[in-house]
Amino acid sequence: MNQTTKVKNVLPVFSITDFPILQQKVYGKRLIYLDNSATTQKPKPVLQAMNDYYEKHNANVHRAVHVLSQRATTLYEQAHEVVAKFIGAEAEEVIFTSGTTASLNLLAYSLCTDLEKGDEIILTEMEHHSNLVPWQQIAKEKNLVLKFIPLTKDYCLDLRQAKKMITTKTKIVSVTQMSNVLGTINPVPELVKLAHDVGAIFVVDAAQSVPHQSIDVKKLDCDFLAFSGHKMCGPTGMGVLYGKKHLLQKMKPFHYGGGMIREVRWDDSSWNDLPGKFEAGTPNIAGAVGLMEAIRYLEKVGMDNIEDHEHTLTAYALKKLSGISGLQIIGPASNPPTSLKQPTLLRGPVISFVIEGIHPHDLGEVLDKEGIAVRGGHHCAMPLMAKLGIAGTTRASFYFYNTDDDVDALVKAVKKAQELFG
Ligand SMILES: Cc1ncc(COP(=O)(O)O)c(C=O)c1O
Repeated sequence: MNQTTKVKNVLPVFSITDFPILQQKVYGKRLIYLDNSATTQKPKPVLQAMNDYYEKHNANVHRAVHVLSQRATTLYEQAHEVVAKFIGAEAEEVIFTSGTTASLNLLAYSLCTDLEKGDEIILTEMEHHSNLVPWQQIAKEKNLVLKFIPLTKDYCLDLRQAKKMITTKTKIVSVTQMSNVLGTINPVPELVKLAHDVGAIFVVDAAQSVPHQSIDVKKLDCDFLAFSGHKMCGPTGMGVLYGKKHLLQKMKPFHYGGGMIREVRWDDSSWNDLPGKFEAGTPNIAGAVGLMEAIRYLEKVGMDNIEDHEHTLTAYALKKLSGISGLQIIGPASNPPTSLKQPTLLRGPVISFVIEGIHPHDLGEVLDKEGIAVRGGHHCAMPLMAKLGIAGTTRASFYFYNTDDDVDALVKAVKKAQELFG
């Protein structure tokens, strides 16, 4: 699967031609896609699998004996197994949702049912709105206390503060494993221990981590973990909620309706086994097929290869970008480790920056005309922007198909923008 062009720092275990969308030109320039934190591009096997599903197997799951329904059911169940194996879980611990946001909303409502006035939920100052607003709203309704672990000046979590804040009053700790703004990778195992020492539940927002590194939920010992298929070569509208079996069994269902029941009487109902109990209604079957194929694709490329490639790429980008005068990196500025042997990683392949005198939206427009797709704005983290005293950043976020050439093009285009606005 080797690439033929002489592009610098190419991951040699896949072909860029697998990604039809990346073969196009925009404004006559090669498309350079650096908005992977928002969503990733889809390789042909994923598109093919979803197309095949609709062309050959489409039926509703669980409800009929006919051959198509049996095939659809088998594929849907297989998808649970493939996802479970990918994160080190059991198939019944994997609930399909529409995405990280849906998974976190489910948790906020279900886990807070029995909480009482004054109980505390601990988040961090770097959370995406999806891991903030659901907890905030339920906290307001139930008079719960929300606290935020602060950042150090190096854009990491202040663990000394975390130790002080996580107490016997804490019932839930919910933390992003990798910031979608700063790129910071948080020390989840240490935080899990702090939470478990006081009997609190630990939730991981893994929207930005599962696509980029091997995750083993049993090793992490987290209680719940949420992620989205579309950020890892899969389709939109398809996400995952992992939960420890004994906790999912104790929880009340979140949505009621078909598929999630065992028996319904006029006056009461009982619930299906896991994961069905949390998957009411007709699920996103094609989405499950697409996610399963995306995982197979990522496994072929190799999660360790992906992690390693992205480290060197991010190190290169940090070095090049920080060499531009007037540009400030908003996130850990040091290079990530270049070897997988390094046990603790400081940051992932997301680089936010601000440039003196250029608004992120204006910069985004100039880069777009150069064929470079980045994102400018608050990145669904308005409180973090307020804390940092900035309106927004420009964010370049990489995936395994990006190369040093993409970084060079970005740097060149940023310099061009500086000349234009200078
Ligand atoms: C850290 C983080 N959490 C949650 C989300 C929400 O994911 P989704 O929009 O797929 O539900 C995102 C999306 O960018 C994210 O980066």
